Amino acid sequence: MTEVTRAAELLRAGELVAFPTETVYGLGADASNPRAVAKIFSAKGRPPDHPLIVHLADSSQIDVWARDVPDVAYTLAAALWPGPLTLILKRQPHVIDAITGGQDTVGLRVPNHPLALELLREFSGAKGGGLAAPSANRFGRISPTTAQHVRDELGDAVTMVLDGGPCQVGIESTILDLSGMGDRGPAILRPGMVSAEAIAAVLGVAPVAPGAPGSNVPRVSGSLDSHYAPITPLQLVSSDGLVFAARNAIVKGERTAFLACMPQPLQDDAVVWKLAPREPEPFARALYASLRELDALGCVRIVVQQPPATANWLPVLDRLKRAAH
Ligand code: TXA
Ligand code: MG
Repeated sequence: MTEVTRAAELLRAGELVAFPTETVYGLGADASNPRAVAKIFSAKGRPPDHPLIVHLADSSQIDVWARDVPDVAYTLAAALWPGPLTLILKRQPHVIDAITGGQDTVGLRVPNHPLALELLREFSGAKGGGLAAPSANRFGRISPTTAQHVRDELGDAVTMVLDGGPCQVGIESTILDLSGMGDRGPAILRPGMVSAEAIAAVLGVAPVAPGAPGSNVPRVSGSLDSHYAPITPLQLVSSDGLVFAARNAIVKGERTAFLACMPQPLQDDAVVWKLAPREPEPFARALYASLRELDALGCVRIVVQQPPATANWLPVLDRLKRAAH
């Protein structure tokens, strides 16, 4: 029996299996089994009213889970799935409340990772079964981007971890709300590496950005102010502020970890410096593993160089601001 076959069997038996996606590792359960889904909430320590994304093997299963699906959903799915984009749609009546958080909508995504797709195909069968999968971290903590992160964080709470290597995107999917197409148009609830521009290029209309005036958007757990956070306090500073913060660490003798795109300005035992990539894609890919590594050092604080406020850095900046809260 292959690992994937075994994983699919465990999932059918109501167990939790963590699996890789291109964004972060997911903590998977049979989305139609209330007892299996309940295990996700206890393993994560997640509040019960936070909805879960249902992962599908392919876009032909959209209608199994969603109803009154607007044409734009199929258009986006055809262009951008498999990929780091979650669509919020009106739910089919059979979708359980633990998945939807009691709302009238459901989040759907086809992940772009060969192992995830193999697992989903093996699991889904003729009825188009889906896997509920939040990021496989404890609630409010940093999402895992390797199998080892999942094991470190969830231990025995997860029956099996499929190892698909480090995640290539590194931060969670873009969440696009299409459930109110009649009155408010598409709205981004969580920015991710599928940009507003990429969505606009497919649809011919720009989605509403989070927090924009009139964007009357449903709550997402990733949009709580404090999220994706290390235990060590995290501070965002400008490139000038980095030198100041390093000097401060040395003067006060406060061991401080830095994540920055520029080389280390001052050498001292109080300064631990980790060089970050200069482009948003590789920065995002490395971000969570870097934060975990720096968090484990037990420094007084983690200082991160604030990226530019340009559109291509928006999803990374969003995660950093939450981690800093
Ligand atoms: O990249 C990702 O999306 C990863 C991988 C594993 O697919 N998953 C992920 O799941 O980040 P999670 O549970 O950590 O974050 C999912 C977000 C939550 O903020 C949740 O509130 C939101 O999606 N969400 C899910 N269903 C929703 C719905 N029906 N309406 C509004 N927000 C929803
Ligand atoms: Mg999460």
